[in-house]
Amino acid sequence: MSKLKILASACAFVVLSSVAASGLTGDSSPVYGVKVPDGYRHWEVITVAHEAGENNDIRAVLGNDIALKAFRDGTRPFPDGTIIARLAYFYESSPENDQVVTAPQSFVAGKPTNVQISIKDSKKYPETGGWGYGQFENGVTNPSEPLIKTCFACHVKLDPSKDFVFSHYSP
Ligand code: HEC
Repeated sequence: MSKLKILASACAFVVLSSVAASGLTGDSSPVYGVKVPDGYRHWEVITVAHEAGENNDIRAVLGNDIALKAFRDGTRPFPDGTIIARLAYFYESSPENDQVVTAPQSFVAGKPTNVQISIKDSKKYPETGGWGYGQFENGVTNPSEPLIKTCFACHVKLDPSKDFVFSHYSP
């Protein structure tokens, strides 16, 4: 390797490491430092939901093994290590599917909108009921601190016995 190349890669390393040190890698949420959990797309379904109005989306709520066990057993508060992933998609009518039914009635998931994550770690997040939050678009964190602050501000409105989680397990 030429001296110039070595110098260039050393510079790139310094730049990348200082980006990482500032937390601006685009892969962890503001405030909580939540990252996209490995393998979440393979998790089991807890339930589904549809939001009308401005969101107009359809959502799958998935959970890791700890979450699923707690949902099935009705354990509240959720144990540390619980991770819940909420995957949302535009809610769209499907002219393609409607061709084979008698009336326009088929609605499906369109393009993804975002993935929201709730992680239970009572030592790390004591001020927000033990929950850390993140929102990701195309696998990249949404960098908005005001947005991320709305998460607990809304989930906290639930009765404390629910441990700040809206979803119920759908068998
Ligand atoms: C205005 C209220 C509100 C805000 C703000 C909000 N949520 Fe939620 N969240 C809900 C409701 C209601 C549900 C359940 C039904 C649904 O998905 O529409 C939910 C469901 C979830 C779920 C599935 C588990 C559960 O608690 O039911 C996750 C994960 C989640 N939200 C994370 C987030 C994150 C991360 C943010 C911030 C980026 C956020 N939420 C902001 C109201 C809110």
